[in-house]
Amino acid sequence: MGCVLNFRSKGKMSVPMLLSQISPQAPSSPSSSSHIDVQPIAFEEIKKATRNFQHSFYLEHGAWGHVFKGYIDEHTLTASKPGFGITIAVKIWNPEGVQAHQEWSKELNYLSQLRHPNVVRLVGYCPEEEKMILVYEFMAKGSLDNHLFRREHESLSWATRIKVAIDAARALSFLHDKDKPVIHRSFRTADILLDGEFNAKLCDFGLARDGPTGDMTHVSTRVLGTFGYAAPEYVATVVSGIAT
Ligand SMILES: Nc1ncnc2c1ncn2[C@@H]1O[C@H](COP(=O)(O)OP(=O)(O)O)[C@@H](O)[C@H]1O
Ligand SMILES: [Mg+2]
Repeated sequence: MGCVLNFRSKGKMSVPMLLSQISPQAPSSPSSSSHIDVQPIAFEEIKKATRNFQHSFYLEHGAWGHVFKGYIDEHTLTASKPGFGITIAVKIWNPEGVQAHQEWSKELNYLSQLRHPNVVRLVGYCPEEEKMILVYEFMAKGSLDNHLFRREHESLSWATRIKVAIDAARALSFLHDKDKPVIHRSFRTADILLDGEFNAKLCDFGLARDGPTGDMTHVSTRVLGTFGYAAPEYVATVVSGIAT
């Protein structure tokens, strides 16, 4: 991706400042007041926090990139020993990935504005923008699809399933009821993460976009998402609204 940022330092560039320098493909940049204080975390600290991206810290991989587990001190945002500080998940986009940079910047943009108990918390980002790394709270039970479709996991009880469904619905309701609604466009079991107590949180905002505002009932978009999860009327009409 040909995004050129003219900073390489590990300085304290805020998310709005950082996003204002990102390529024009980045989503509309909201006013700085709407951004939560998402902190830069130096690449060296991310490296140390994951023990130099050690294999035993590896969580997930795919065409999109890699996710590692790590440990940092929540206050200083420096690496801590395994078992100390807070546990984090470090997501690294594959620079070869189609639209990798756009997805990274969208995720940074949206998650630095959204705080809700059922939306995964973005802890920080690597200020070396070309590395495309974001740091999240660690969700100990991983993604919902693993629990539903992988044999090694015990089947979820009905009570847990209902709780997860309600948590996920709360996340959607939060996104859709905002003054400036957000359409996630990838609402599926792989993008619902579970913490140690099976609280569910929505993740992966790389395909998200701003929803209709004012008198608008819909926005027209390219069809994105996953077959089987996207609303048929959206796929057929390329018109996306809160209901889809
Ligand atoms: N915060 C996290 N804690 C634990 N595992 C995570 C976390 N974020 C992502 N993962 C794991 O990595 C996978 C991919 O992450 P996701 O954000 O959905 O990225 P992608 O855009 O590649 O689908 C998830 O399905 C989950 O298994
Ligand atoms: Mg995903």
